[in-house]
Amino acid sequence: MSRRRYLLAVSASVLFASAAPAQDSEIDEFTGFRKTGDWELVRANCIACHSAKLITQQSGTAAQWLAMIRWMQKKQNLWQFEPAVEEKIVTYLAENYPPSEDRRRAAIPPDLMPPNPYAPETTPAPE
Ligand code: HEC
Repeated sequence: MSRRRYLLAVSASVLFASAAPAQDSEIDEFTGFRKTGDWELVRANCIACHSAKLITQQSGTAAQWLAMIRWMQKKQNLWQFEPAVEEKIVTYLAENYPPSEDRRRAAIPPDLMPPNPYAPETTPAPE
């Protein structure tokens, strides 16, 4: 997707985003995750390397969440998932942490981020 198209798609998703996160579900005390759907799969797979806050403060569509997972698999040693498990995780994330109007902007896909000068794998040159 060209950058321009991507920006259009992001603007459209910001303008038309109506999916509101489920407000009525309980919050897990330890992780802060909404206790709904397949939240335990997310707890089992997503907090080994970093704080759950990195997830709960993030937002995105299913495609954006999947892109973050692919980036972590490629760059951060995140393991591969069974397709069915991955789909459940992505569904949970997109339903509970969707792009929303009160966010400053939608998440930027990792491939559009500038290289991180402090990450060893970005030197000499990112792919
Ligand atoms: C094998 C280790 C590992 C696991 C497991 C892992 N991550 Fe990550 N993740 C990372 C690393 C490393 C970073 C970068 C941390 C930083 O920037 O401080 C990161 C960053 C993130 C970010 C921030 C991305 C951004 O753009 O700022 C999100 C959101 C995230 N992970 C979500 C998840 C989710 C959802 C899962 C479960 C599917 C998961 N992580 C499992 C290693 C992991």
